[in-house]
Amino acid sequence: MRENEFEFIRGLVYEHSRINLGPDKRELVSARLGKRLRATKLATVGDYCHFLQTERDGEELAHLIDAISTNHTFFFREIAHFDFLSQIAVPELKARARTEHWPRLDIWSAACSSGEEPYSIAITLDECLGPAWPWHIECTDISNRILAKAAAGIYRDETVGKLTPARISRYFQKGYGPQEGNYRVKPALQAGLGFQQLNLLEGEPPFPHPFHVIFCRNVMIYFDRKTQEELVQKLTRHIVPGGYLFVGHSESLTGIRHSLQTIKPAIYRRPLNS
Ligand SMILES: C[S@@+](CC[C@H](N)C(=O)[O-])C[C@H]1O[C@@H](n2cnc3c(N)ncnc32)[C@H](O)[C@@H]1O
Repeated sequence: MRENEFEFIRGLVYEHSRINLGPDKRELVSARLGKRLRATKLATVGDYCHFLQTERDGEELAHLIDAISTNHTFFFREIAHFDFLSQIAVPELKARARTEHWPRLDIWSAACSSGEEPYSIAITLDECLGPAWPWHIECTDISNRILAKAAAGIYRDETVGKLTPARISRYFQKGYGPQEGNYRVKPALQAGLGFQQLNLLEGEPPFPHPFHVIFCRNVMIYFDRKTQEELVQKLTRHIVPGGYLFVGHSESLTGIRHSLQTIKPAIYRRPLNS
């Protein structure tokens, strides 16, 4: 890939997703573009850049951003968050729910990728709340392709196999015949999740109510500091006072202007009186 082609791709990706591809990402971009060249049957990166410049509907641009962004995730990633959720955050919020008349616990998994994160939250809530207090998890991601996978809730046995046998039998159905080797999340658990495509950097999220907890993990790492700052401030507006924000462990908010209290590494809380 030529320098000017990399600069073009890098500028376009930044403009539309704020994903900041530094010079060290040139190899990665080149490898990921290979897939798009095959899919579009174009011969060179130059042809592909020309195609992006001339297409009208932005469809290929969406595929490009999809190919560049990393969807890597797994069940109960960063386990300390799930321990904190079940042992501290949920009991505290449940106690407030009675006096503040919250009909249900609302959680947002922003940048949910293929769904392992929100299903891990759902399992945690089912285990620590049972039917005591209804809950709902809003699941969003910029990529329609990955969101469809999350909504389907079907995972390979090597992915699900890392969970305990008790959790597998309680929350998953084993596939047979053409679904051999797959597990599907049981509908009862899935019923508590909603899915919608959302670019975190475009406008104000369309939710009519604030959330008690937001998970926004392992996505800010791609954004520059200014974009991170704007995003954290935007997320803060969508958290109830006293509610929590969980970020990835490599995404400390140090050096970012924000109004949140630091509770533990990668766990923040909107002050009660804010
Ligand atoms: C590495 S995954 C993180 C998944 C999960 N949160 C976790 O921590 O395991 C990053 C996700 O962020 C999504 N993403 C990237 N840019 C985004 C944006 N501007 N708005 C919403 N989602 C975005 C990607 O599509 C990808 O699925």
